[in-house]
Amino acid sequence: MNIHVGENDISHVVEADKAHVWHHLTQHKKFDATDPQIIVEGKGMRVWNQAGREHLDAVSGGVWTVNVGYGRASIAEAVRDQLVKMNYFAGSMGTIPGALFSQKLIEKMPGMSRVYFSNSGSEANEKTYKIVRQIAHNKFGGKKHKILYRQRDYHGTTITALSSGGQDERKDQYGPFTPGFVEVPHCLEYRSQWGEVDDYGLRAANAIEEVILREGADTVGALILEPITAGGGVITPPEGYWERVQEICKKYEILLIIDEVVCGMGRTGTWFGYQHYGIKPDMVTMAKGVASGYAAISCTVTTEEVFQMFKADPDDPMSYFRDISTFGGCAAGPAAALENMRILEDENLLENTVAMGEYALEKLEELKAKHAIIGDVRGKGLFLGAELVNDRETKEPASETITQAIVAECFQKDAVLIGATNRSLSGFNNTLCLSPALICTKSDIDEIVASIDGAISRVVA
Ligand SMILES: Cc1ncc(COP(=O)(O)O)c(C=O)c1O
Repeated sequence: MNIHVGENDISHVVEADKAHVWHHLTQHKKFDATDPQIIVEGKGMRVWNQAGREHLDAVSGGVWTVNVGYGRASIAEAVRDQLVKMNYFAGSMGTIPGALFSQKLIEKMPGMSRVYFSNSGSEANEKTYKIVRQIAHNKFGGKKHKILYRQRDYHGTTITALSSGGQDERKDQYGPFTPGFVEVPHCLEYRSQWGEVDDYGLRAANAIEEVILREGADTVGALILEPITAGGGVITPPEGYWERVQEICKKYEILLIIDEVVCGMGRTGTWFGYQHYGIKPDMVTMAKGVASGYAAISCTVTTEEVFQMFKADPDDPMSYFRDISTFGGCAAGPAAALENMRILEDENLLENTVAMGEYALEKLEELKAKHAIIGDVRGKGLFLGAELVNDRETKEPASETITQAIVAECFQKDAVLIGATNRSLSGFNNTLCLSPALICTKSDIDEIVASIDGAISRVVA
């Protein structure tokens, strides 16, 4: 390992961090007694902290991001070359990597047509809301403006993105929220709202229709969904769900927005999560894996039909999409994304994701057979979750304290970084989350699963 901060400097770095950095999602009181972790270097599946301790990262940078792994010099070089040649121009102009990446991306998304660049998942989703609102104004006299979102889904951190968030603990204390967003029920069969039924998927989809009818279909412009819910508990959709959702959207002329911020770019074994389910979206958003965290980039992708609505009336000065994202014009993002995509293709990482995902799911099922605290195992590709319960019969959720204790134990004892749903849903922060980089091997998975096995044995003993 090669830490680029001298031995003597590292304590200064820690002090500077403790004095001035406000960490994300963190109660800082703990730093009165401990030091923050400074991640100094990464290579492949591994990262090293300030003490030089090596960790196996089972969560791709904590939040499903570093899909192609750490230390990819070719991405850094592509970014460097681009920045030296031309770093930035506002998105009203084009850039070479922007055009080339858009073309490659659309090749992977049959039925889609246009790419709008910005910087974060929240922002990418926010663009879709503005598009929906503008269409409502131009086509429906402002009436069809409501946007439906699903309980347990998450679409970002800004006030309007939170307004479309189905996780109460992420929203608590941040209201009032933007009006015009309406919640529909979740689709987690393990926590069925109708008890044990054999048509759960259909019922969960029909519950969306009920909300549409209650609100008035002429007021509902769009429905935003994660293809597989991430931070709300790694929820794979029940059978028959997506077919019915698609029918409902068509029937009521409701635009379907798919949030691929987590699932996009191979995470689930297809380029995009929605492609498992035969969905035809009107808009798709993506961020985390687009450049694997080597540059900040997000995309809002639309069909040609949506795009055409914004150029239909050139004589009306207000009819085009009057939106800008300053750093959506930074050429580092698409330059990194192009090279990221080349790596995914040349190294057959989608195939690896399918194979390793199946292996990991098998191993988690074996853990479930061994530990009664694991109530349910879910996932697709390298996007996996294990829901913890106090009692398999009643499915009473395990506490956030126990869940976090298992995460901490993996970290402290084995230097394995796993994740868990946290401060998302009151009473349900009980799902362990795994999302290793798409380069992972069987031996990485064995190490991760062995660590969880040991951690559960010690914490639950
Ligand atoms: C499904 C989903 N959508 C949107 C976002 C927001 O992305 P960002 O944090 O880049 O704004 C996230 C972040 O975790 C997410 O999980």
